[in-house]
Amino acid sequence: MENASIIQFVNVTKTFADDTIVLDNVSFEIERGKFYTLLGPSGCGKTTILRLIAGFIEPTSGEVYFDGKKINHLPANKRQVNTVFQDYALFPHLNVFENVAFGLRIKREKKSVIEAKVKEALSFVNLSGYENREISEMSGGQRQRVAIARAIVNEPKVILLDEPLSALDLKLRTQMQYELRELQRRLGITFIFVTHDQEEALAMSDEIFVINKGKIQQSGTPIDIYDEPINRFVADFIGESNIVKGKMIEDYLVEFAGKRFTCVDGGITPNEPVEIVIRPEDLEITKKGAGKLEVTVHSKLFRGVHYEMTCRDVEGNDWLVHTTRKVDVGDMIGLDFEPEAIHVMRFDESEEDFDRRMEQYTEEEANG
Ligand SMILES: Nc1ncnc2c1ncn2[C@@H]1O[C@H](COP(=O)(O)OP(=O)(O)OP(=O)(O)O)[C@@H](O)[C@H]1O
Ligand SMILES: [Mg+2]
Repeated sequence: MENASIIQFVNVTKTFADDTIVLDNVSFEIERGKFYTLLGPSGCGKTTILRLIAGFIEPTSGEVYFDGKKINHLPANKRQVNTVFQDYALFPHLNVFENVAFGLRIKREKKSVIEAKVKEALSFVNLSGYENREISEMSGGQRQRVAIARAIVNEPKVILLDEPLSALDLKLRTQMQYELRELQRRLGITFIFVTHDQEEALAMSDEIFVINKGKIQQSGTPIDIYDEPINRFVADFIGESNIVKGKMIEDYLVEFAGKRFTCVDGGITPNEPVEIVIRPEDLEITKKGAGKLEVTVHSKLFRGVHYEMTCRDVEGNDWLVHTTRKVDVGDMIGLDFEPEAIHVMRFDESEEDFDRRMEQYTEEEANG
């Protein structure tokens, strides 16, 4: 029987010749038929993960599994994986048809089979009729589609996409995001997509792995990661955040900006220093004295649909607020928010520590 996971990394570490650790004890599972995104800043190890999956490099330690079988040493051409590279890596001297047909010709497929499969792949990416075009006569978005057709024609179980949209302008990029997501749904195969663009990751993925410095900081659905960032790196990297220092008084009670607030977090040692995240859209402007925080409007920028304001509280913390209300720089106003809007983070807590704390805390809750 097929198990749900198609790829599994178990304690994978990768170091290169000079002993710098590029991936540090990384473990994760990729399930069949989902759209995954590896998200993180330049140099964090995203491409290295793809290269380990594709078989271009081997792990220094740890295991890589595909379909339940260990594949650490399996050569790239024996893996049921195809890669779409950032620069597409198309063959400039071959036309569209031959670019897509390339892998099938290497496998010595019959002419009639090649014709039927290339035709189908091109129709999947809306390029029917472009068979005889030269690559040099194709636009950036069309080249992108040829590169995808070349990957799907081999019917791999997994497609790896390394920042495939970064060369496109914003409008085309947004269109291709929809197209890729739609294509993944229609094909029903696993996509592992790399980007350093957080909005792109949020818009496209079933699951996101947020990576920094060779470690997975957090994994989860876009909503999980946006709503419940587990550390400062994730909170800062995903969306816009207000992050201020505070202190946990006890379960459900936290102190910051010189006041105590009811919150929904627990399982943290009393009086432990913590960081507080509140998303700008969770802050509501009120009249002076009517909110939970008293602030002065420090700056204001018009962003087309809303104003983006920074407000300063008595302790000197800056609060980013989005509003359509008319307020002026120098105004004293109140800020209101729900207990659920307060996200309490321990300093540098890892995903495992966070999971362990949650488990323990909910058990204690259950036991009264
Ligand atoms: N063959 C190699 N030898 C030595 N160091 C390498 C090698 N390949 C990658 N690295 C280093 O490993 C780290 C991670 O590289 P990787 O290409 O995985 O980053 P990335 O997350 O894909 O970044 P980007 O967003 O810039 O593409 C970098 O510091 C890089 O310099
Ligand atoms: Mg890269």
